[in-house]
Amino acid sequence: MDGNGRWAKKRVQPRSFGHKAGVRTLMSILEDCFDLGIKYVSVYAFSTENWNRPQVEVDALMDLFRTYFTKQFSKLIEKKIKINVWGDKSKFPDDIKNAIHEIENTAINDPKGVFNIAMGYGGRNEIIKAVNDAIKAGIEVDEKTFASYLYTTGIPDPDLIIRTGGEMRISNFLLYQCAYSELYFTKTLWPDFSKEELIEILENYNIRDRRFGKVK
Ligand code: FPP
Repeated sequence: MDGNGRWAKKRVQPRSFGHKAGVRTLMSILEDCFDLGIKYVSVYAFSTENWNRPQVEVDALMDLFRTYFTKQFSKLIEKKIKINVWGDKSKFPDDIKNAIHEIENTAINDPKGVFNIAMGYGGRNEIIKAVNDAIKAGIEVDEKTFASYLYTTGIPDPDLIIRTGGEMRISNFLLYQCAYSELYFTKTLWPDFSKEELIEILENYNIRDRRFGKVK
């Protein structure tokens, strides 16, 4: 969800204004995804590196997490969406940690969809943690057992990763899981991302030839 800061700058507003607009876009695109029959939707909301942003911006993002985890996300749960949080939660304020814990532990029977939020997440950090956890458990891993040490355990690898905001890089997102993901980069700034563009991207995805390294 890249481009919130630039979107705000264009409007001569603080970066937090862009993040607020970004989260509104997120809620609407999320609904579109589930309506379109996409079962798993994952977003990169806060990287391990984002802790180094100016304190005023970090605080604004924490306020958004607080509001959404304590209020708005209950509406998703009512719609039978299971919510998972991926990342190192240790640095988040206690009230946010507690709200995340409550949301993650809400059991949902026969979920309509799964919404994964990467927060305090870094792909390298996830891999290193998984290696250390496997060593501690005294287990020699294979691809299947290694995956069970990742935050994403039980969730299929992403079929498609969309990055908004014009940069063409992965920036530490799902490094292990993206091995065969299709990538799509758009210049659209995240707050301007629309259902129409999502559908265009899905149509583009549908005509791609996914061979997973094999010959068809
Ligand atoms: C990157 O754009 C975006 C982020 C670092 C934050 C994204 C977070 C949200 C949209 C809020 C998520 C909230 C919840 C509750 C899940 P940028 O700020 O780096 O944009 P720029 O590249 O234009 O500066």
